Formats: sequence, structure tokens, C-alpha cells
Amino acid sequence: MNVGVLASGEGSNLQAILDRVHGREGIEVVAVGSDKPDARALERARAANVPVRAFPAGEHADRAARDVAMSDWLAGAGAELVVLAGYMQLVDPAFLDRFPQRVINVHPALLPAFPGIRAVEQALAYGVKVFGVTVHFVDEGVDSGPIIAQRAVELPDATGPQEVRAALRPLEHDLLTGVIRLIARGAVGFDRENPRRVVVQP
Ligand code: GRF
Repeated sequence: MNVGVLASGEGSNLQAILDRVHGREGIEVVAVGSDKPDARALERARAANVPVRAFPAGEHADRAARDVAMSDWLAGAGAELVVLAGYMQLVDPAFLDRFPQRVINVHPALLPAFPGIRAVEQALAYGVKVFGVTVHFVDEGVDSGPIIAQRAVELPDATGPQEVRAALRPLEHDLLTGVIRLIARGAVGFDRENPRRVVVQP
């Protein structure tokens, strides 16, 4: 299964993908794109000899035009699954139509709580005691697609976002790479009676 990754920032999730699943079990990362030309994620991809391209907003008339360029490039690279790994933009419906039920995202909260940006800060402000991460299919809403997998961690005394992010990062890396393996194996489907419910074969 050929995987395309979009990332805007540090790229630690991308690194986990490169280290743990790229080149194994029939999984290949074939393209890494970003909206940010200076994203550390692009450096990580270059270091792994994976083709990269930046799609900065200024080079496209609008988001729809950027998404067309990005989906053309990913499809041209042969991507069969698109992983949003810290990609800080929404992708538009036309992008999703190019990869039906084959765009996934990792989010640093237990959805449906705290969708959108600054999820960890939202959770801290709310005063939750249990934090967590979600990997889900991307639909047209904000972090609203069907949930594939979640993992939680109790942090009853957490006060700062750095502390929470540090606790969540390894969970994200495990969950995201695990889900990519499951999808590659054909183990991820939908409940016929409830298409919101993702079914994972053991
Ligand atoms: C992660 O917390 C992810 O959940 C969120 O963006 C962050 C990306 O981190 N969507 P990294 O760039 O993979 O290190």
C-alpha cells in the first residue's frame, strides 16, 4: 500500500511512520507534502529519500486550487492512503473524493471532545482528568469523521500543554502506525448497519 503524508510542522508522527512501517509489510511512503516549505517534516522525508513538495498558500489562488494541486501530486505518486499527520489545514471535498475513505488524521484529543485547533489547550482549560488521542477517517467536517482507534491516558494533575503533549506523543505514534498497518492488511471496514462505526478485524 502506497502512503502519502501531509504534515505542517515537526513531523514526529511522520518520523514514526518512516521508522516503523515504511518499507515493511508492503507499505511504502511515496510522497510527503506540506503547506509550509520550512516544515521539519519535509526535512525528515528528504532524509528518508521520500519525494517532498510544499504547497504554500501564496502559490495557489485559493485552498481549492491548492487541494487540486496536492491531490494531483499525491495521486501521481501512487498514494492509496493519505495520512494527515499534523497537517494544520482542512482538505476540501474534492480532495476527499480523490481518495474515498482513504484519508486519515491523528488528533490529540478523545473525539468528539475538543475538535479543531489547540485541542490540548481546550482539554486543559476544561479541566479533564483523562486525555487521549484519536485516529479517524477524514470527512467534510472538522475532526468529525468515523473513529478508527483511540487511546487514553490519565493525567489528573496536568497543568501545562507541553506536559500533556509529551505524554500523548508516544500514544499517537503507536496508534497511527498501528492503524496504517491494519488498513494495509485490509482489516479496517465499516459496520453495515451503522456506517459511523468502524470495524477492525482482529
Ligand atoms: C500531533 O499532536 C497531532 O495530533 C496533531 O498535530 C500534531 C503533529 O505533531 N494533529 P508532529 O508534527 O507529528 O510532531
